[in-house]
Amino acid sequence: MDKIIVEGGRRLRGTIEVNGAKNAALPIQCAALLTDTPTTLRHVPLLSDVRTMNKLLAGLGCEVSGERVLTIDPRGVASGTLEAPYELVKTMRASVTVMGPLLARYGRARISLPGGCAIGARPIDQHLRGLEALGAEITLAHGYVELKAKRLRGATFVFDLVTVGGTQNVMMAAALAKGTSRLENVAREPEVEELARILNKMGARVHGAGTSVIEIEGVDNLSGVDHAILPDRIEAGTFMVAAAISQGDVTLRHAPVDDLHAVIAKMEEAGVRFEVTPDGLRVLGPERLGPVDVTTRPHPGFPTDMQAQMMVLATMAHGQSLITETIFENRFMHVPELCRMGADISVHGNSAAIRGPTRYSGTTVMATDLRASASLIIAGLVAEGRTEVRRVYHLDRGYETIETRLQALGGQVERYHGARG
Ligand code: EPZ
Repeated sequence: MDKIIVEGGRRLRGTIEVNGAKNAALPIQCAALLTDTPTTLRHVPLLSDVRTMNKLLAGLGCEVSGERVLTIDPRGVASGTLEAPYELVKTMRASVTVMGPLLARYGRARISLPGGCAIGARPIDQHLRGLEALGAEITLAHGYVELKAKRLRGATFVFDLVTVGGTQNVMMAAALAKGTSRLENVAREPEVEELARILNKMGARVHGAGTSVIEIEGVDNLSGVDHAILPDRIEAGTFMVAAAISQGDVTLRHAPVDDLHAVIAKMEEAGVRFEVTPDGLRVLGPERLGPVDVTTRPHPGFPTDMQAQMMVLATMAHGQSLITETIFENRFMHVPELCRMGADISVHGNSAAIRGPTRYSGTTVMATDLRASASLIIAGLVAEGRTEVRRVYHLDRGYETIETRLQALGGQVERYHGARG
């Protein structure tokens, strides 16, 4: 297993590009199953999760080629097994988002139940309730969910809770249903809007994405398209925090500023300065950071995927901050590792009380989940001495060679391949 070693004490300076969004690419790769002709995606991030999804699509019978420019030809799927196997679903739970497209396009799907993951139970009950409302017959057996439907029919469905993946699965199914669907209490994330954009490019009739009600007039078929994936707001936010705590001066080209208002507002409250430039966002880290209270919420609230990174900023602030996680039940696994590096954080239920500023000292830490791993790298940037982050395969799921990106900004960050983990 690879490890990454960070020498602390460098101020980050310079300009980097923001890559295509992982959480837009994954559902859009699934949307390619809905069409009769190939789809080409551009600005695709080179991530292990994207590769896992491509493996799943190939296993279903798709012809998949290219990486940054990715072409998915679904014409071989009809005669396939229409199954998302346990090995792939347990590796990446976003695999369940093939369910809606397969059911809508081929009338059948067999998906391994994802099981839990590090950050929580993450059930898919809302996905299944929504597909049932559209007419799917669903049976659960041997850890798999089997879905059948001659032709899905439009319906009104209200989600019990806001779910990004659930919204995306039901949206894609409704796009090919007979009649109109009205989905309420849907997720408003930018990645849901991006999925609606590409579905409409494919010939779907999706209205209201980005609000809490989405109306979809089903059509009989959809065609493949050429689409450039929008920039990754969480990758951008991660580098914003790295610049902010290292008293850096970093410009993020193509940063999706309009999708980052909650994050920018909280960082400004802490004393970080921003300048919107013609093609991105400049981040200026102050000499002294002030404390902030943050509660994660569905978009447009503060994103849960930025909670761990924001916690590192809070540990560097002068004063006490409170961070509350309301989306996942176990998303504080970065806390014990940050405390080993010297942070003063105490967890009470779904809130963490942080006292700063912290004099971080480098040590060996263990990555546990994607965003927690990023927070350890960021803390290493301001730690005294060397920080060794192990099991960085978690990082590679959502960050393209993070070490080369940070090196480009002056960070002393090296990857050691195949180290004992
Ligand atoms: C998406 O996951 C993202 N992943 C996650 O990013 C992100 O943290 C999450 O949305 C919330 O914004 C992708 O887009 C690939 P949810 P998703 O369904 O869709 C509960 C990252 O770091 N729930 O919105 O799986 C669920 O347990 C990843 O990039 C149900 O109870 O998240 C959770 O507590 C991590 N029943 C909450 O809803 C359901 O049927 C939100 O989950 C579905 C969800």
